[in-house]
Amino acid sequence: MGEVFIFDHPLMKHKLTLLRDKDTGPKEFRELTNELAMLMAYEVTRDIPLEEVEIETPLTSTKSPRIAGKKIGVVPILRAGLGMLDGILQLMPAARVGHVGLYRDPDTLEPVEYYCKLPPDTENRDLLVIDPMLATGGSATAAIDAVKSRGVRSLKFMCLVAAPEGIERVREDHEDIDIYTAAVDDHLDDHAYIVPGLGDAGDRLYGTK
Ligand code: URA
Repeated sequence: MGEVFIFDHPLMKHKLTLLRDKDTGPKEFRELTNELAMLMAYEVTRDIPLEEVEIETPLTSTKSPRIAGKKIGVVPILRAGLGMLDGILQLMPAARVGHVGLYRDPDTLEPVEYYCKLPPDTENRDLLVIDPMLATGGSATAAIDAVKSRGVRSLKFMCLVAAPEGIERVREDHEDIDIYTAAVDDHLDDHAYIVPGLGDAGDRLYGTK
């Protein structure tokens, strides 16, 4: 059974407060989103296995731990997920990147996949699906479906702000997935915005509103 991890770090809380502020403009919003994503990725990767290797320091030979050939992939959900990507790649520059694009069907209001390009051999990778906002859970569930259908070894979902409704939906549809978030907010409004939230993450990242 997957778990829900709600981060409790003062730096994350501080950055999230700045993100929530309606007067934070796109440049600062992008920087903060990447910084927060990097801090979160640091915690999310705590369980990466290490192996002891023999190395030569300038003084002597010694055994020292390094990451055990772990293959990692990061999968932003287009478009707001892209806002978290660079921060994560700064920590893990060797990670491969996949993309999932979804649009909302005007009749059913359910997300429909229009684009999915993943790194090769996903079945040998640990994948991290990212999207700043986990609102209804529809996009997250559809993106996880899209990735799972291509075959994966392990999959985690990371967002900045989650609504209780979104967490419940992902846990119902994908009970094996761990969810990582910097905050769980109060509720969704009638337009499926998270309250108090931070508004439309994509629009605030790219200044499209
Ligand atoms: N997507 C957003 O960008 N913001 C919300 O509040 C909900 C979904």
